[in-house]
Amino acid sequence: MAMRNNKSPSPEFDQYASSYASLLDDPVRNRFAHDSLHFHRRKWLLIQRLLKRFGMDMATQRWLDVGCGKGELLELAGSNFAEAIGCDPSAEMLSSSSNFRMEQQPSLVELPFGDASVDFVTAVCVYHHVHGAARTLLTGEIRRVLTPGGLCCIIEHNPWNPVTRAIVRRCPVDVDAELLTARCATSLLKSTGFEALRLEYFLYFPELVFNRIAPVEGMLRKIPFGGQYALLARAPA
Ligand SMILES: C[S@@+](CC[C@H](N)C(=O)[O-])C[C@H]1O[C@@H](n2cnc3c(N)ncnc32)[C@H](O)[C@@H]1O
Repeated sequence: MAMRNNKSPSPEFDQYASSYASLLDDPVRNRFAHDSLHFHRRKWLLIQRLLKRFGMDMATQRWLDVGCGKGELLELAGSNFAEAIGCDPSAEMLSSSSNFRMEQQPSLVELPFGDASVDFVTAVCVYHHVHGAARTLLTGEIRRVLTPGGLCCIIEHNPWNPVTRAIVRRCPVDVDAELLTARCATSLLKSTGFEALRLEYFLYFPELVFNRIAPVEGMLRKIPFGGQYALLARAPA
């Protein structure tokens, strides 16, 4: 794994940005879903349900997507919030035009926003690209920009799922990936002062099966073998 300086913007995803979609191309992934939008839709369905469950009125809240990449999740869901913003250390990932504000991070561990400036933060498939002490520093920054009692949702690949592991192993953009278990993500958030509220596993079935039996996936959400997991946590009040 290449060592990177947390203080300088990561060149890592700059080199992937122009061919990002083709770099994600994988025969097993393609059999699972007919396009990448399916994965973003599945995440949004889950996030939406979790926010409703914990009483967030999205229409009045400010959402920040940390490590937003090309901003696909913002494009899909941003209009549900009073404000939706993205940030990423990679200028090249951010260069695609978006209906939403997207800012470059000054470093891997700093967010370009004021204290208590957003109500909800997501970090989707970001933390497996963040290493060592930078994980804690980035989480501290997320806590700083969140309003007291604000919510944070981390979505990550599940290392307990063998298909996920095989896809990650083959994927060129994951050459530096260090997958983290849900337990590790929970400890990270708790050690930064967050209260863990809810952990759910998802992406058990391919798109065509899911479209027919979505409620069955819902019944499996506590079984730790879904392709990914979502962890919702609350910042200290
Ligand atoms: C696999 S992509 C995911 C992009 C987007 N969240 C999505 O789900 O499509 C990982 C992203 O995390 C970003 N990233 C890497 N290190 C980061 C850090 N320390 N802070 C924020 N974003 C980071 C990368 O630049 C890249 O855009």
